[in-house]
Amino acid sequence: MPRYAHIIGWGKYVPPNILTNADLAKKVDTTDEWIRERTGIHQRHIASAKETTALLALHAAREAVEVADVNPQDIDLVIVATATPEYLFPATACLVQNALGAERAGAFDLEAGCSGFVYALATATALIRSEMYNTVLVVGAETLSRILDWSDRATCVLFGDGAGAVMVRGSDQPGGILSTILGSDGSGGELLMVPGGGSKHPAGPDTVLSKQHFVKMNGREVYRFATRVMAQAARQAVDKAGWQLDQIDLFLPHQANVRIIDSAAKSLKIPPEKVFVNLERYGNTSAASIPIALCEALDTGKIKPGSNLVMVGFGAGLTWASCAIKWTAPQPGTPAPQRAAVSRLRYIWSGIKSFGFQLSRHIDAAVSKTIDGIERKPSEE
Ligand code: ACO
Repeated sequence: MPRYAHIIGWGKYVPPNILTNADLAKKVDTTDEWIRERTGIHQRHIASAKETTALLALHAAREAVEVADVNPQDIDLVIVATATPEYLFPATACLVQNALGAERAGAFDLEAGCSGFVYALATATALIRSEMYNTVLVVGAETLSRILDWSDRATCVLFGDGAGAVMVRGSDQPGGILSTILGSDGSGGELLMVPGGGSKHPAGPDTVLSKQHFVKMNGREVYRFATRVMAQAARQAVDKAGWQLDQIDLFLPHQANVRIIDSAAKSLKIPPEKVFVNLERYGNTSAASIPIALCEALDTGKIKPGSNLVMVGFGAGLTWASCAIKWTAPQPGTPAPQRAAVSRLRYIWSGIKSFGFQLSRHIDAAVSKTIDGIERKPSEE
Protein backbone atom coordinates (compact mmCIF):
# COMPACT_ATOMS: atom_id res chain seq x y z
CA MET A 1 0.00 0.00 0.00
CA PRO A 2 1.52 3.41 -0.94
CA ARG A 3 2.49 5.78 1.86
CA TYR A 4 1.64 9.47 1.71
CA ALA A 5 3.32 12.41 3.47
CA HIS A 6 0.92 14.90 5.07
CA ILE A 7 1.56 18.22 6.79
CA ILE A 8 -0.16 17.87 10.15
CA GLY A 9 1.28 20.86 12.04
CA TRP A 10 2.74 24.29 11.29
CA GLY A 11 4.18 27.29 13.08
CA LYS A 12 6.04 30.52 12.47
CA TYR A 13 8.03 33.08 14.38
CA VAL A 14 9.33 36.52 13.43
CA PRO A 15 11.31 38.79 15.73
CA PRO A 16 9.24 41.70 17.08
CA ASN A 17 11.68 44.40 15.94
CA ILE A 18 10.52 46.02 12.66
CA LEU A 19 12.71 47.98 10.26
CA THR A 20 10.73 50.10 7.80
CA ASN A 21 11.85 51.44 4.43
CA ALA A 22 11.88 54.90 5.99
CA ASP A 23 14.28 53.63 8.69
CA LEU A 24 16.54 52.24 5.95
CA ALA A 25 16.46 55.51 4.02
CA LYS A 26 18.22 57.05 7.05
CA LYS A 27 21.09 54.51 6.76
CA VAL A 28 21.67 54.20 3.00
CA ASP A 29 20.96 56.18 -0.16
CA THR A 30 17.49 54.80 -0.88
CA THR A 31 13.82 55.77 -0.60
CA ASP A 32 10.63 54.11 0.56
CA GLU A 33 9.25 54.74 -2.92
CA TRP A 34 12.15 52.96 -4.71
CA ILE A 35 11.97 49.89 -2.46
CA ARG A 36 8.17 49.58 -2.75
CA GLU A 37 8.16 50.05 -6.51
CA ARG A 38 11.11 47.80 -7.35
CA THR A 39 10.45 45.03 -4.77
CA GLY A 40 7.02 45.40 -3.09
CA ILE A 41 8.66 45.40 0.36
CA HIS A 42 7.44 47.92 3.00
CA GLN A 43 9.18 46.60 6.11
CA ARG A 44 11.07 43.60 7.49
CA HIS A 45 11.60 42.01 10.94
CA ILE A 46 15.15 42.08 12.30
CA ALA A 47 16.45 39.74 15.01
CA SER A 48 17.99 41.20 18.17
CA ALA A 49 21.47 40.04 19.23
CA LYS A 50 19.89 37.36 21.43
CA GLU A 51 17.55 36.09 18.72
CA THR A 52 19.71 33.60 16.85
CA THR A 53 18.67 31.30 14.01
CA ALA A 54 18.25 28.32 16.36
CA LEU A 55 16.00 30.34 18.66
CA LEU A 56 13.75 31.51 15.82
CA ALA A 57 13.65 27.92 14.53
CA LEU A 58 12.76 26.62 17.99
CA HIS A 59 9.82 29.04 18.41
CA ALA A 60 8.37 28.00 15.03
CA ALA A 61 9.07 24.31 15.70
CA ARG A 62 7.33 24.37 19.11
CA GLU A 63 4.21 25.82 17.49
CA ALA A 64 4.26 23.12 14.80
CA VAL A 65 4.65 20.39 17.46
CA GLU A 66 1.68 21.82 19.37
CA VAL A 67 -0.59 22.15 16.32
CA ALA A 68 0.31 18.61 15.21
CA ASP A 69 -0.27 17.38 18.77
CA VAL A 70 2.83 15.21 18.43
CA ASN A 71 4.96 14.05 21.35
CA PRO A 72 8.55 15.23 20.65
CA GLN A 73 9.65 11.67 21.47
CA ASP A 74 7.77 10.52 18.36
CA ILE A 75 9.76 12.77 15.99
CA ASP A 76 12.10 10.66 13.83
CA LEU A 77 14.04 13.45 12.12
CA VAL A 78 14.60 17.22 12.35
CA ILE A 79 15.72 19.06 9.20
CA VAL A 80 16.55 22.77 9.40
CA ALA A 81 16.88 24.54 6.06
CA THR A 82 19.07 27.60 6.54
CA ALA A 83 21.80 29.65 4.91
CA THR A 84 22.49 31.43 8.20
CA PRO A 85 23.13 28.60 10.68
CA GLU A 86 23.95 29.17 14.33
CA TYR A 87 27.51 27.89 13.75
CA LEU A 88 29.48 26.32 10.89
CA PHE A 89 28.95 23.23 13.03
CA PRO A 90 27.23 21.70 14.97
CA ALA A 91 24.11 21.81 12.83
CA THR A 92 21.31 24.16 13.92
CA ALA A 93 18.96 21.15 13.58
CA CYS A 94 20.83 19.41 16.45
CA LEU A 95 20.25 22.43 18.70
CA VAL A 96 16.54 22.41 17.84
CA GLN A 97 16.30 18.63 18.33
CA ASN A 98 17.86 18.93 21.79
CA ALA A 99 15.78 21.92 22.91
CA LEU A 100 12.57 20.21 21.79
CA GLY A 101 13.42 17.02 23.68
CA ALA A 102 13.14 15.03 20.44
CA GLU A 103 15.46 12.39 21.90
CA ARG A 104 14.85 9.71 19.28
CA ALA A 105 15.33 12.05 16.30
CA GLY A 106 18.21 12.37 13.86
CA ALA A 107 19.01 15.94 12.83
CA PHE A 108 20.77 17.77 10.03
CA ASP A 109 20.87 21.14 8.30
CA LEU A 110 20.10 21.56 4.63
CA GLU A 111 21.58 24.45 2.63
CA ALA A 112 19.93 25.32 -0.67
CA GLY A 113 19.53 29.09 -0.22
CA CYS A 114 15.96 30.31 -0.46
CA SER A 115 14.90 26.95 -1.99
CA GLY A 116 15.97 25.22 1.23
CA PHE A 117 12.52 24.74 2.75
CA VAL A 118 11.07 23.01 -0.32
CA TYR A 119 14.26 20.93 -0.65
CA ALA A 120 13.81 19.84 2.99
CA LEU A 121 10.12 19.12 2.46
CA ALA A 122 10.99 16.95 -0.55
CA THR A 123 13.58 15.08 1.54
CA ALA A 124 11.06 14.49 4.34
CA THR A 125 8.49 13.29 1.80
CA ALA A 126 10.92 10.79 0.25
CA LEU A 127 11.96 9.43 3.66
CA ILE A 128 8.33 9.02 4.71
CA ARG A 129 7.20 7.44 1.44
CA SER A 130 10.08 4.95 1.61
CA GLU A 131 8.94 4.15 5.18
CA MET A 132 12.37 4.94 6.59
CA TYR A 133 10.74 7.51 8.87
CA ASN A 134 7.19 8.42 9.81
CA THR A 135 7.36 11.81 11.56
CA VAL A 136 9.69 14.54 10.28
CA LEU A 137 9.95 18.13 11.48
CA VAL A 138 10.97 20.53 8.69
CA VAL A 139 12.06 24.06 9.61
CA GLY A 140 13.14 27.02 7.48
CA ALA A 141 14.93 29.59 9.66
CA GLU A 142 17.12 32.58 8.84
CA THR A 143 18.85 35.59 10.32
CA LEU A 144 19.93 37.14 7.01
CA SER A 145 20.40 40.45 8.84
CA ARG A 146 23.62 39.01 10.32
CA ILE A 147 25.30 38.60 6.92
CA LEU A 148 24.11 41.78 5.19
CA ASP A 149 26.37 44.69 4.36
CA TRP A 150 24.24 47.47 5.84
CA SER A 151 26.00 49.99 3.62
CA ASP A 152 25.07 48.15 0.38
CA ARG A 153 21.67 49.47 -0.69
CA ALA A 154 21.39 46.84 -3.45
CA THR A 155 21.10 44.02 -0.90
CA CYS A 156 20.31 45.34 2.59
CA VAL A 157 16.81 46.54 1.64
CA LEU A 158 15.72 43.10 0.42
CA PHE A 159 16.02 40.69 3.34
CA GLY A 160 14.42 40.01 6.74
CA ASP A 161 14.62 37.46 9.57
CA GLY A 162 12.14 34.77 10.58
CA ALA A 163 11.31 31.08 10.81
CA GLY A 164 8.56 28.69 9.76
CA ALA A 165 8.09 24.99 10.49
CA VAL A 166 5.90 22.09 9.48
CA MET A 167 5.41 18.60 10.92
CA VAL A 168 5.17 15.97 8.19
CA ARG A 169 3.74 12.54 8.95
CA GLY A 170 3.19 9.34 6.99
CA SER A 171 -0.27 7.88 6.39
CA ASP A 172 -2.12 5.50 4.04
CA GLN A 173 -4.65 8.25 3.38
CA PRO A 174 -4.09 9.58 -0.18
CA GLY A 175 -3.12 13.25 -0.48
CA GLY A 176 -0.49 15.43 1.13
CA ILE A 177 2.75 16.19 -0.71
CA LEU A 178 2.04 14.65 -4.11
CA SER A 179 5.02 15.77 -6.18
CA THR A 180 8.39 17.45 -5.69
CA ILE A 181 10.88 18.95 -8.15
CA LEU A 182 14.47 19.89 -7.24
CA GLY A 183 16.84 21.78 -9.52
CA SER A 184 20.31 23.29 -9.50
CA ASP A 185 22.57 25.23 -11.88
CA GLY A 186 25.88 25.63 -10.09
CA SER A 187 27.28 27.66 -12.99
CA GLY A 188 25.38 30.62 -11.50
CA GLY A 189 26.83 30.19 -8.01
CA GLU A 190 28.75 33.46 -8.08
CA LEU A 191 25.61 35.49 -8.81
CA LEU A 192 24.55 35.18 -5.18
CA MET A 193 27.05 34.22 -2.53
CA VAL A 194 28.86 34.85 0.74
CA PRO A 195 32.48 34.30 -0.33
CA GLY A 196 34.26 34.53 3.04
CA GLY A 197 34.40 32.17 6.02
CA GLY A 198 34.48 28.87 4.08
CA SER A 199 37.40 26.68 3.03
CA LYS A 200 38.29 28.85 0.04
CA HIS A 201 38.55 32.13 1.96
CA PRO A 202 38.81 31.16 5.64
CA ALA A 203 37.88 33.83 8.15
CA GLY A 204 40.74 36.22 8.84
CA PRO A 205 41.46 39.94 9.07
CA ASP A 206 41.66 40.22 5.24
CA THR A 207 38.28 38.62 4.62
CA VAL A 208 36.68 40.80 7.26
CA LEU A 209 38.26 44.02 5.97
CA SER A 210 37.16 43.25 2.41
CA LYS A 211 33.62 42.43 3.63
CA GLN A 212 33.74 38.87 2.30
CA HIS A 213 31.35 37.68 5.03
CA PHE A 214 28.46 39.61 3.55
CA VAL A 215 25.94 38.72 0.84
CA LYS A 216 27.16 39.60 -2.66
CA MET A 217 24.52 39.58 -5.35
CA ASN A 218 24.11 40.37 -9.00
CA GLY A 219 20.45 41.40 -8.62
CA ARG A 220 19.68 41.77 -12.32
CA GLU A 221 20.94 38.28 -13.21
CA VAL A 222 19.23 36.66 -10.20
CA TYR A 223 16.02 38.42 -11.24
CA ARG A 224 16.32 37.01 -14.78
CA PHE A 225 16.97 33.52 -13.44
CA ALA A 226 14.08 33.72 -10.96
CA THR A 227 11.46 34.81 -13.49
CA ARG A 228 12.57 31.95 -15.77
CA VAL A 229 12.57 29.11 -13.22
CA MET A 230 9.58 30.02 -11.08
CA ALA A 231 6.92 29.34 -13.71
CA GLN A 232 8.85 26.38 -15.13
CA ALA A 233 9.23 24.66 -11.73
CA ALA A 234 5.56 25.26 -10.88
CA ARG A 235 4.50 23.67 -14.20
CA GLN A 236 6.69 20.62 -13.56
CA ALA A 237 5.26 20.03 -10.06
CA VAL A 238 1.70 20.41 -11.39
CA ASP A 239 2.36 17.95 -14.27
CA LYS A 240 3.97 15.43 -11.93
CA ALA A 241 0.95 15.59 -9.60
CA GLY A 242 -1.34 14.89 -12.57
CA TRP A 243 -3.09 18.26 -12.28
CA GLN A 244 -3.84 21.06 -14.72
CA LEU A 245 -2.68 24.62 -13.92
CA ASP A 246 -6.29 25.76 -13.41
CA GLN A 247 -6.64 23.23 -10.58
CA ILE A 248 -4.26 25.25 -8.37
CA ASP A 249 -6.22 26.76 -5.48
CA LEU A 250 -3.30 28.64 -3.95
CA PHE A 251 0.16 29.46 -5.29
CA LEU A 252 2.74 29.97 -2.49
CA PRO A 253 5.89 31.35 -4.13
CA HIS A 254 9.16 32.32 -2.46
CA GLN A 255 8.68 35.91 -1.29
CA ALA A 256 11.65 37.78 -2.81
CA ASN A 257 10.20 40.40 -5.12
CA VAL A 258 6.56 41.04 -6.05
CA ARG A 259 7.56 41.64 -9.67
CA ILE A 260 9.06 38.13 -9.90
CA ILE A 261 5.87 36.66 -8.38
CA ASP A 262 3.60 38.67 -10.72
CA SER A 263 5.59 37.62 -13.76
CA ALA A 264 5.38 33.90 -12.78
CA ALA A 265 1.65 34.14 -11.99
CA LYS A 266 1.00 35.85 -15.33
CA SER A 267 2.88 33.21 -17.27
CA LEU A 268 0.98 30.45 -15.39
CA LYS A 269 -2.34 32.35 -15.84
CA ILE A 270 -3.01 32.16 -12.10
CA PRO A 271 -5.37 34.98 -11.01
CA PRO A 272 -4.08 37.33 -8.25
CA GLU A 273 -6.58 36.02 -5.66
CA LYS A 274 -4.90 32.60 -5.91
CA VAL A 275 -1.39 33.96 -5.34
CA PHE A 276 -0.20 34.42 -1.76
CA VAL A 277 1.95 37.50 -1.15
CA ASN A 278 3.12 38.77 2.24
CA LEU A 279 6.59 40.10 1.39
CA GLU A 280 5.48 43.68 2.00
CA ARG A 281 5.68 42.90 5.76
CA TYR A 282 8.64 40.52 5.93
CA GLY A 283 10.95 41.13 2.96
CA ASN A 284 12.84 38.08 1.72
CA THR A 285 13.28 35.70 4.67
CA SER A 286 15.03 33.15 2.43
CA ALA A 287 14.33 29.54 3.55
CA ALA A 288 11.69 30.80 6.01
CA SER A 289 9.57 32.66 3.46
CA ILE A 290 7.42 29.78 2.18
CA PRO A 291 6.57 28.22 5.59
CA ILE A 292 5.75 31.69 6.98
CA ALA A 293 3.48 32.27 3.95
CA LEU A 294 1.86 28.86 4.51
CA CYS A 295 1.06 29.70 8.16
CA GLU A 296 -0.45 33.06 7.20
CA ALA A 297 -2.49 31.53 4.37
CA LEU A 298 -3.88 29.02 6.88
CA ASP A 299 -4.58 31.73 9.47
CA THR A 300 -6.50 33.80 6.93
CA GLY A 301 -8.63 30.87 5.72
CA LYS A 302 -7.09 30.72 2.22
CA ILE A 303 -6.38 27.01 2.62
CA LYS A 304 -9.08 24.44 3.33
CA PRO A 305 -9.08 20.64 3.44
CA GLY A 306 -8.90 19.52 -0.20
CA SER A 307 -7.12 22.69 -1.44
CA ASN A 308 -4.48 22.18 -4.13
CA LEU A 309 -1.31 24.11 -3.24
CA VAL A 310 1.84 24.75 -5.24
CA MET A 311 5.03 26.03 -3.60
CA VAL A 312 8.05 27.26 -5.55
CA GLY A 313 11.39 28.40 -4.18
CA PHE A 314 14.51 29.72 -5.93
CA GLY A 315 17.79 31.02 -4.63
CA ALA A 316 21.52 30.71 -4.09
CA GLY A 317 23.22 27.78 -5.75
CA LEU A 318 21.58 28.60 -8.06
CA THR A 319 18.75 26.33 -6.96
CA TRP A 320 15.03 25.96 -7.41
CA ALA A 321 12.42 23.62 -5.94
CA SER A 322 8.68 23.14 -6.20
CA CYS A 323 5.98 20.88 -4.86
CA ALA A 324 2.26 20.18 -5.26
CA ILE A 325 0.24 19.50 -2.11
CA LYS A 326 -3.32 18.27 -1.65
CA TRP A 327 -4.07 19.83 1.74
CA THR A 328 -5.59 17.38 4.21
CA ALA A 329 -5.05 18.83 7.68
CA PRO A 330 -8.06 20.07 9.64
CA GLN A 331 -8.98 23.76 9.48
CA PRO A 332 -6.77 25.98 11.65
CA GLY A 333 -8.69 27.81 14.30
CA THR A 334 -10.05 24.46 15.44
CA PRO A 335 -8.88 24.14 19.06
CA ALA A 336 -5.89 21.80 19.54
CA PRO A 337 -7.84 18.98 21.29
CA GLN A 338 -10.44 19.02 18.48
CA ARG A 339 -7.67 19.05 15.89
CA ALA A 340 -6.07 16.09 17.63
CA ALA A 341 -9.45 14.30 17.69
CA VAL A 342 -9.91 14.96 13.95
CA SER A 343 -6.39 13.64 13.23
CA ARG A 344 -7.12 10.54 15.29
CA LEU A 345 -10.46 10.04 13.49
CA ARG A 346 -8.70 10.35 10.13
CA TYR A 347 -6.13 7.82 11.29
CA ILE A 348 -8.82 5.37 12.48
CA TRP A 349 -10.82 5.90 9.27
CA SER A 350 -7.78 5.20 7.08
CA GLY A 351 -7.24 2.03 9.18
CA ILE A 352 -10.86 0.96 8.68
CA LYS A 353 -10.59 1.67 4.94
CA SER A 354 -7.37 -0.27 4.70
CA PHE A 355 -8.91 -3.17 6.70
CA GLY A 356 -12.03 -2.99 4.51
CA PHE A 357 -9.86 -3.04 1.39
CA GLN A 358 -7.95 -6.12 2.61
CA LEU A 359 -11.22 -7.81 3.65
CA SER A 360 -12.87 -7.09 0.30
CA ARG A 361 -9.81 -8.54 -1.48
CA HIS A 362 -10.08 -11.74 0.62
CA ILE A 363 -13.84 -12.00 0.01
CA ASP A 364 -13.27 -11.29 -3.68
CA ALA A 365 -10.61 -14.03 -3.87
CA ALA A 366 -12.83 -16.52 -1.98
CA VAL A 367 -15.86 -15.74 -4.19
CA SER A 368 -13.76 -16.04 -7.38
CA LYS A 369 -12.37 -19.39 -6.17
CA THR A 370 -15.88 -20.69 -5.43
CA ILE A 371 -17.20 -19.50 -8.81
CA ASP A 372 -14.19 -21.10 -10.56
CA GLY A 373 -14.90 -24.33 -8.71
CA ILE A 374 -18.59 -24.29 -9.68
CA GLU A 375 -17.77 -23.43 -13.31
CA ARG A 376 -15.19 -26.20 -13.58
CA LYS A 377 -17.44 -28.89 -12.05
CA PRO A 378 -19.72 -29.72 -15.06
CA SER A 379 -16.72 -30.27 -17.40
CA GLU A 380 -15.11 -32.56 -14.80
CA GLU A 381 -18.28 -34.68 -14.53
N1 ACO B 1 17.55 52.27 -3.59
C1 ACO B 1 17.70 53.11 -4.63
N2 ACO B 1 18.32 52.77 -5.76
C2 ACO B 1 18.83 51.52 -5.84
C3 ACO B 1 18.72 50.60 -4.79
C4 ACO B 1 18.06 51.03 -3.62
N3 ACO B 1 17.89 50.22 -2.57
N4 ACO B 1 19.31 49.46 -5.17
C5 ACO B 1 19.77 49.64 -6.39
N5 ACO B 1 19.49 50.89 -6.81
C6 ACO B 1 19.80 51.53 -8.07
C7 ACO B 1 20.96 50.87 -8.78
O1 ACO B 1 22.20 51.37 -8.30
C8 ACO B 1 20.71 51.25 -10.21
O2 ACO B 1 21.21 52.56 -10.43
P1 ACO B 1 21.96 52.91 -11.82
O3 ACO B 1 20.93 52.67 -12.88
O4 ACO B 1 22.32 54.34 -11.61
O5 ACO B 1 23.10 51.97 -11.87
C9 ACO B 1 19.19 51.31 -10.30
O6 ACO B 1 18.71 51.39 -8.95
C10 ACO B 1 18.59 50.12 -10.97
O7 ACO B 1 19.23 48.95 -10.45
P2 ACO B 1 18.79 47.52 -10.89
O8 ACO B 1 19.66 46.52 -10.20
O9 ACO B 1 18.67 47.44 -12.38
O10 ACO B 1 17.35 47.49 -10.27
P3 ACO B 1 16.27 46.39 -10.48
O11 ACO B 1 15.06 46.98 -11.01
O12 ACO B 1 16.84 45.19 -11.16
O13 ACO B 1 15.97 45.95 -8.98
C11 ACO B 1 16.54 44.25 -7.38
C12 ACO B 1 17.03 45.47 -8.16
C13 ACO B 1 15.35 44.65 -6.55
C14 ACO B 1 17.66 43.76 -6.50
C15 ACO B 1 16.12 43.15 -8.40
O14 ACO B 1 17.14 42.97 -9.34
C16 ACO B 1 15.83 41.86 -7.75
O15 ACO B 1 14.86 41.71 -7.04
N6 ACO B 1 16.62 40.82 -8.04
C17 ACO B 1 16.41 39.49 -7.48
C18 ACO B 1 17.03 39.47 -6.12
C19 ACO B 1 16.60 38.27 -5.32
O16 ACO B 1 15.48 37.83 -5.40
N7 ACO B 1 17.54 37.76 -4.54
C20 ACO B 1 17.28 36.75 -3.60
C21 ACO B 1 17.42 35.39 -4.18
S1 ACO B 1 17.00 34.22 -3.03
C22 ACO B 1 18.29 33.73 -1.97
O17 ACO B 1 18.71 32.59 -2.02
C23 ACO B 1 18.87 34.61 -0.99
